[in-house]
Amino acid sequence: MSTAKKEYKRVTVKSLVEMKQNGERISMLTAYDYSMAKIVDAANVDVILVGDSASNVMAGHETTLPITLDQMIYHASSVIKAARRALVVVDIPFGRYQSDSKEALRSAIRIMKESGAHAVKVEGGEEIKESVKRIIQAGIPVMGHLGLTPQSIYKFGTYTVRAKEEAEAEKLKKDAKMLEKYGCFGIVLEKIPANLAQEVAESVTIPVIGIGAGGGVDGQVLVVHDLLGMTHEFNPRFLRRYMNLYDEMGKAIARYVDDVKSRDFPSSEESY
Ligand code: KIV
Repeated sequence: MSTAKKEYKRVTVKSLVEMKQNGERISMLTAYDYSMAKIVDAANVDVILVGDSASNVMAGHETTLPITLDQMIYHASSVIKAARRALVVVDIPFGRYQSDSKEALRSAIRIMKESGAHAVKVEGGEEIKESVKRIIQAGIPVMGHLGLTPQSIYKFGTYTVRAKEEAEAEKLKKDAKMLEKYGCFGIVLEKIPANLAQEVAESVTIPVIGIGAGGGVDGQVLVVHDLLGMTHEFNPRFLRRYMNLYDEMGKAIARYVDDVKSRDFPSSEESY
């Protein structure tokens, strides 16, 4: 297996499968707005996820459940303008694909048409298979999401690791094969044991992207605000922080406040 990196002008769902085949790890990161997406894209992140984690990170909700389809489309249409290279995947929000596959398709079509995104992501397996099938039949690429699926947080009642018990692990493995069979181009596995995640990644031909799922999968995804240390109260074991922007930004803003109060800002050079 080679680890040589091929250059991609634009990452597509096909490129991701190629990366898996070539043993090249896939990088995926969230973004919810134009300015952040520009930085993420310029850093050669392969996939930008307009995650419904925007509900927490951007809107301050406790869960991902309240965010609406219109809000997801707004975030996605800002991100898409900045993404020159990355594949842009958008979460279909809670309540828009679980009850009715026709509504699921209408939601996916709205996301694709109104934001210009390249693909959608949905959470769940067997329970949502009709929605997955219908969206893919309409020509829209779908990414699955299994394990700790945050839209089901009230069913789980806790954010602890999923699929530690055999029954849940077996269901997850079946769901992954089913998502592959129906034509999903990739699967996110969230917060499950590393050996199970690796087994799933090895059992399917489509890329498996992990978050809290160990290093044996085909790629990794994080929430960009967590990676940059802008969120400082969220400290799961799987998170590697590359900066502490919460403190750095706070210090910079405090200096600005001091400079305004002391009349140091603006100086004559900063005035017309
Ligand atoms: O919404 C999101 O950010 C996600 C990732 C955590 C995978 O679904």
